[in-house]
Amino acid sequence: HVPVPNVQETVRNNPLKVPERYVRSEEEIQKVLYMPQLSSQVPIIDFTLLSHGNKDEILKLDIACKEWGFFQIVNHGVKIDLMQQMKDVVAEFFEFPIEEKNKYAMPPDDIQGYGHTSVVSETQILDWCDQLIVLVYPARFRKPQFWPQIPEGLKDTIEAYSSEIKRVGEELINYLSLILGLEEHVLIGLHKEVVQGLRVNYYPPCNTPEQVIGLTPHSDASTITIVMQDDDVTGLEIRYKESWVPVTPIPGALVVNVGDTVEILSNGKYKSVEHRAMTNKNKKRTSFVSFLFPRDDAEVGPFDHMIDAQNPKMYKNVTYGEYLRHTLNRKLEGKTQTDAAKIQD
Ligand code: SIN
Ligand code: FE2
Repeated sequence: HVPVPNVQETVRNNPLKVPERYVRSEEEIQKVLYMPQLSSQVPIIDFTLLSHGNKDEILKLDIACKEWGFFQIVNHGVKIDLMQQMKDVVAEFFEFPIEEKNKYAMPPDDIQGYGHTSVVSETQILDWCDQLIVLVYPARFRKPQFWPQIPEGLKDTIEAYSSEIKRVGEELINYLSLILGLEEHVLIGLHKEVVQGLRVNYYPPCNTPEQVIGLTPHSDASTITIVMQDDDVTGLEIRYKESWVPVTPIPGALVVNVGDTVEILSNGKYKSVEHRAMTNKNKKRTSFVSFLFPRDDAEVGPFDHMIDAQNPKMYKNVTYGEYLRHTLNRKLEGKTQTDAAKIQD
């Protein structure tokens, strides 16, 4: 990818001016209807009920994955203090001078560190967002040079938070296995190892938020993604039918979405739904995104029992590593729409 200017510094230097490179056409921002009135319909799942094998809740999960691809979970057991601590130490990191943060700068040939990943050309319109990205699990995959040493305690907090997300995430993957009609541990087993990454998105306020996008529309290449949002700022928007629907934060809840891997394995029964992040004029917003995905050499393809006369095989069998290269090449070709992103059979 191509290194990009730092958005936080851009705003610090001139809070009123939005540089040309960030300005989108009205067409691009408004071609899909904005439907905030649907926000209250985004499913809310009680994780404790799932854990107790509650049949209604499992049915709710199935419907959420089919209809929305997104849901919020409550009663997940991640301590509110730990969530707040994560928000606090990360906020402190972003307040450090740019020279300090750039000690962890993302090199052009890597997708870890402090910077922004999704930039593939010099002419591309840029996202209004700075990112900090690290691979967390398995621990032997970590690259310590990208783990900030400032503030003290950030590293331990990322570790403690991520370990809780791993617990919740792996349990959710087991429920997905069940609703896909498989034994509980089949889906996890297929991963070889569950790999987990953390991406913090930092969206500074923007003087003309109607002109910029915080994070370009995309679907996640993960199995599932678990997002902790700020309690008091909305920004995440998801595609539902022909509209964008904001996911209104519920204090203490986590947002979960089904990624491309599940779409492929389920032969399209569950959709990896497109989403984007928007900014606002007055408040910065931070999101903490944990991706759970298979190891590169894991094989990904539709399960046999998801294929029949009414549901012909939609996706090729590939290794997860091949799949990632395929999606990256699509980005290099300038394709950002996700509809045809999965390798068709
Ligand atoms: C994303 O990583 O897809 C965006 C999440 C968010 O900012 O809410
Ligand atoms: Fe995403």
